[in-house]
Amino acid sequence: MGKVKNLISIQDLDRKGIDAILDTASKMETVAIDRSDLLRGKIMAVLFFEASTRTRLSFESAMLRLGGGILGFSEVTTTSAGVKGETLADTIRTVERYADVIVIRHPLDGSARVAAEFASIPVINAGSGAEEHPTQALLDFYSIRKLKGTIDGLTISLCGDLKYGRTVHSLGMALSQYDVSIILAAPPSLKMKPAIIEEMKKAGIQVNQVDNIEDAITEDVDVVYQTRIQKERFYREDEYFKVAGKFKISNKDAERLKDDAIILHPLPRVDEISPDVDSMPQAKYFDQVYNGVVTRMAILKMVLG
Ligand code: CP
Repeated sequence: MGKVKNLISIQDLDRKGIDAILDTASKMETVAIDRSDLLRGKIMAVLFFEASTRTRLSFESAMLRLGGGILGFSEVTTTSAGVKGETLADTIRTVERYADVIVIRHPLDGSARVAAEFASIPVINAGSGAEEHPTQALLDFYSIRKLKGTIDGLTISLCGDLKYGRTVHSLGMALSQYDVSIILAAPPSLKMKPAIIEEMKKAGIQVNQVDNIEDAITEDVDVVYQTRIQKERFYREDEYFKVAGKFKISNKDAERLKDDAIILHPLPRVDEISPDVDSMPQAKYFDQVYNGVVTRMAILKMVLG
């Protein structure tokens, strides 16, 4: 048997690997419209132990557009793992007998890696606890490159919940492989993990940490990447309410940006981008949603094609 190609961490990919997926995603733009039989006969299992709208549906849309089939669950209370105490290892050793690839979202850090250890088919991490969300980072990269023409040379503000936001962990680690300047904007209690900042600095990236949204949204910034405060990851509700409602982007904030700057957000949004920003030319977060389809088509081709 050949080497199984998993995607557990964005660190599984070097810059060449990331760029190759972005190039394939670009080619998938026409395939997504015309449809293809590239993965005809292949079956994707989606195991969502945690809520999702975009990640699960865009993976399913990607697989259907490539001619493959889908099975799985998105409501853990209907599963033997959720109700009867089956372990993740046993669930994986069962599902691998039904499918050719497993896409897993789970509330625990390390869960996707555990799944990969027990699987003899490829495993794709669709979000593991507060740890990582590598396929989101790839679609974010794809969105930036599609909208700005490049990633190198940009000034990028990562804003909001940088402690619990798994998308910014994967994105931050991957940005270390590019020639960018980064502004990290978060409340003091939700700063980016020191290990990721260290990695950015070791890579020679200029990193500027601020504790207010105003300093992250200036005319010098090319990309504003806003995130939701991850209420579900807080151990104490009172700690959440100390930061809830902070770090909002208003249309007054967005007006400070240059015309060709872009605002991204992995979504879902609660209140951290005011709805009146949605109609501004810089607001690209719903275009970003569609980019998840072509990027995940490219990822499925990489692991199954
Ligand atoms: N961006 C993201 O992971 O969205 P969902 O939680 O809806 O999948």
